[in-house]
Amino acid sequence: MLRLGVRLLAVIGLIGHSTSAAPHGNSSSSSATVHWLGDKPAYVPGITFGVPWPQGKHWPDKTKFTVAGNSGENIDLQSWATGYWADGSVKWTGHAIPESDQILDQYTVTASSSNKPGRPDRPGRPADNDTSSPLVVKDGSDTITVDTGSLTISFPKKGDVIVGAIKTKSGKTVGENGRLVLHSQSGVVETPGSQGDSSIQYSNFGGSIDDVKVENQGPVRAVVTVRGKHQVTSGADHDPWLQFVVRFYLYANSDSVKVMHSIVFDGKASEDFITGLGIHFDVPLEGEQQYNRHVRIAGVDGGFLNEAVQGITGLRRDPGAGVRTAQFEGRELPDPGTWDTRVTTRLKWIPTWGDYSLNQLSPDGFTLKKRTEPGQGWVKIPGGTRAGGLAYLGGATQGGLAVGLRDFWKRYPSGIDISNAASDKGEITLWLYSPAAEPLDLRPFHDGLGQDTYKDQLDALEITYEDWEEGFNTPYGISRSSEVYLFAFEKTPTSDNLAALTESINNPPVLVPSPEYLKETQSLGAYWELPDTSSDAAKTLESHLELIFDFYQAQVEQRRWYGFLDHGDFMHTYDPDRHTWRYDVGGYAWDNSELSPDLFFWQYFLRTGREDVYRFAEALTRHTGEVDVYHAGDWKGLGTRHGVQHWSDSAKQARISQPQYRKYFFYLSGGDERVGELLEELLDTDKTYGLLDPQRKVRTDGWKPSPDSTVAFGLGTDWSGLAAGWLIEWERRGPRWEEARTKLTNTASGIANLTNGFVTGSGLYDPVTWTLGPPPTDPGNLGNVSVSHLSAMFGLPEVVSEAIAYFGDDIPEGFAEAWYDYCYYYRASGEEQTARYGATFGKLSLYQAHSRLAAYAAAQSGNKSLAQRAWADFYTGDGLKPSAPWNITHVDGSAVLAPVDEAPWLATNDIAQYGLAVIQNLAYVPDALSEYAG
Ligand SMILES: *[C@@H]1O[C@H](CO)[C@@H](O)[C@H](O)[C@H]1NC(C)=O
Ligand SMILES: *[C@@H]1O[C@H](CO)[C@@H](O)[C@H](O)[C@H]1NC(C)=O
Ligand SMILES: *[C@@H]1O[C@H](CO)[C@@H](O)[C@H](O)[C@H]1NC(C)=O
Ligand SMILES: *[C@@H]1O[C@H](CO)[C@@H](O)[C@H](O)[C@H]1NC(C)=O
Ligand SMILES: *[C@@H]1O[C@H](CO)[C@@H](O)[C@H](O)[C@H]1NC(C)=O
Ligand SMILES: *[C@@H]1O[C@H](CO)[C@@H](O)[C@H](O)[C@H]1NC(C)=O
Repeated sequence: MLRLGVRLLAVIGLIGHSTSAAPHGNSSSSSATVHWLGDKPAYVPGITFGVPWPQGKHWPDKTKFTVAGNSGENIDLQSWATGYWADGSVKWTGHAIPESDQILDQYTVTASSSNKPGRPDRPGRPADNDTSSPLVVKDGSDTITVDTGSLTISFPKKGDVIVGAIKTKSGKTVGENGRLVLHSQSGVVETPGSQGDSSIQYSNFGGSIDDVKVENQGPVRAVVTVRGKHQVTSGADHDPWLQFVVRFYLYANSDSVKVMHSIVFDGKASEDFITGLGIHFDVPLEGEQQYNRHVRIAGVDGGFLNEAVQGITGLRRDPGAGVRTAQFEGRELPDPGTWDTRVTTRLKWIPTWGDYSLNQLSPDGFTLKKRTEPGQGWVKIPGGTRAGGLAYLGGATQGGLAVGLRDFWKRYPSGIDISNAASDKGEITLWLYSPAAEPLDLRPFHDGLGQDTYKDQLDALEITYEDWEEGFNTPYGISRSSEVYLFAFEKTPTSDNLAALTESINNPPVLVPSPEYLKETQSLGAYWELPDTSSDAAKTLESHLELIFDFYQAQVEQRRWYGFLDHGDFMHTYDPDRHTWRYDVGGYAWDNSELSPDLFFWQYFLRTGREDVYRFAEALTRHTGEVDVYHAGDWKGLGTRHGVQHWSDSAKQARISQPQYRKYFFYLSGGDERVGELLEELLDTDKTYGLLDPQRKVRTDGWKPSPDSTVAFGLGTDWSGLAAGWLIEWERRGPRWEEARTKLTNTASGIANLTNGFVTGSGLYDPVTWTLGPPPTDPGNLGNVSVSHLSAMFGLPEVVSEAIAYFGDDIPEGFAEAWYDYCYYYRASGEEQTARYGATFGKLSLYQAHSRLAAYAAAQSGNKSLAQRAWADFYTGDGLKPSAPWNITHVDGSAVLAPVDEAPWLATNDIAQYGLAVIQNLAYVPDALSEYAG
């Protein structure tokens, strides 16, 4: 379906500057090449990707983007800016290319000047009228309809049907009445095996639409966004709840649809137990012979269940080999007049199988069963280990619909139901949470243990490391997104075809720039470099990073860190006695981004370009940004500290929702709309300080938060999260970018203005004037010294160095110097600290982690002795020593539930900060390593 041609479906506008396309690899070049993450995919249903551009080269209203393949083929391209440099030049673009039969090895996007003025440069606006694009979006008063050229899909604007109909190119309706499904119950049976509890109320819900919009539209791609709440359709009454946002991605020429399904849990943990969450479609089958109706369900490793609703194979009488083969292969059967009549006269005695049910209730196994119809018994079909997560229902002549869920088994309990396949309207339901599973129980895991006072709670923290507080262990406001795919077929496809789609939905194609190019543009920080193999010492460090990544990746599998909410996260600390991670010990269980592993894994990807690292980091970003952060309620914008449940700890803080953790994926993905929306939500995190005091348990000055009143917050863990959000909004030129720029600039000047800069520790923020002054302990700004080992551990170095570069000449006076001083003095001697600040910083830790601050300062100043100090801090401070075992131990036998590998010498805090220190020290002061080590 690829149409080669010189048509330029460019969108951004034009430019005056660079017209010469320099070769790729030169930062002043006008083109950038993206390649496939991993092997070239067999199937690409249209794709969106991100490309960075060097500062000051391309201007939004004057640049035209085109894309070509290796041999110069021109390919349709939709382009929009996702980020800008401070000078207004384009920093990041998102691009979409349509589905095509011809998948090239790589694509080169060229930015060139164009004379056409005023082209749209932001998503959401239609591109110039392009009559030759097959993608047509009609935004009517009741319905939005999108025709990709290969599929037409309609979205009603009201009611409970979120997808009206899905039609193939030839006009066959293969799916209709697409609905969201939710089942919940008001309680759970507490004793396993006991009879049902008659006080439990059961409610069934459908998705009720509040709003439907075309969020992005152009010649190649359209995104339709449906928002609403789940509303009762039957069973016990219940208020509307479980807000949803469902995004549909449609590409020119494509007969598939990507669906990003997001929910916010806005119920009560003790009363609202989700028992099923899914998406349901009707599949019209009227007129299709039962023996021409096909069910295909993905099994293990590309395997498929290949069945017909009415089977004519394996019978006592043979209809003929051609007939049997045709049915197995999903083709229309020959005219029954040609079959053996001993079969045709008896077709009525062959049962039809209307219902199929697959349930993946654990990451290790799924069950599969079928029945003829409700009221009849189920017949078991052998199940298997890990289902591919895709199913098809349709007919040989009328076509059909396949639906699939990415990471199906990793997101257990998941399921697929096919129902009423023998009737005129078959149905497929994809379960993001299977109704065959136990209810989703989000209640606290303990009753508080009598921790009635802050004193008790702080004492309990001393033993289980859990920071508990009544009422704070709530899931109210957490969210989860699931990636679903729909495929329309004119007739039953081959199972090989379906197997290829199953592979595709589980490893969706990704186009990325090379690490070299990313590095050159400095679009994601100047704090990382390509892997360094220039010396034995550097090689050893690289091998350690590899060991760490490989170990965590393998631990996910060995420890079964999977599940609807859990997938993507890993644990915080190991329990060597039990050979298990401390999944049940207070503050040591789920990591929830503690000490920034998100930054380490993404930076590790940036420099290596490894596919497995990208997939790992993407799953982490999808998890931490959704499940570990509140998206509704008073704490919207805050994240929850590490714990046994993702929401159980009472420390709700900005450091955990840190937007910097999502930034890499956001730009690389071409501006993923869901992540973009999460970044926008975080712009109001500063308001939470008027509602919740993060210091409440240790505060002695009697201060109480109130909305719009000034608040003292940390210049590290608090400000770094807020500042990252402001910087990203400014870069994106989002709707609030001027406010964000002002807040960032004001607070950065405020820090610079403090006598002791970052060393002051905290400042008084005014949420009304957006300014920051001296802390209440030092209203005269005489100079407080308060340095915490944690201040720089949640993204501060990345955020500040990016902000300094971004401000450029407009940097608030003294800000860069304030950061330099913090970096220099954190690990300076007590005498030096006293000489500069009149006091020492006291006892600190995380010196290995902070070595990258010294390295930054050394790179800024060119101070060679400081560069060597950075490596000395790295090797001899604390953290992971060269003398650590750096090996993995296998444990099996009765000591463990199942054989595992362990590395009791490491913990996630250590690996995250070790990894960041290695990456950044090698970037800032590589030469000093050989001097130091040599
Ligand atoms: C990059 O390209 C520009 C102009 O095309 C050239 O002047 C410059 O020397 C090149 N830089 C490198 C590092 O190749
Ligand atoms: C696009 O088409 C619409 C409808 O035909 C027309 O009103 C509009 O002026 C066109 N815009 C451009 C930029 O040509
Ligand atoms: C810096 O401090 C001076 C006096 O200490 C004050 O007048 C000024 O407003 C401050 N600037 C900022 C940006 O806080
Ligand atoms: C902050 O500085 C003021 C003035 O120098 C001093 O009185 C106060 O004790 C300091 N407080 C802290 C917490 O360092
Ligand atoms: C360079 O850093 C060292 C510490 O490693 C320090 O003693 C020295 O004063 C610094 N030199 C300059 C010029 O700042
Ligand atoms: C791991 O390293 C330690 C320390 O070097 C050593 O004692 C141990 O035997 C090693 N274990 C394995 C499994 O290699």
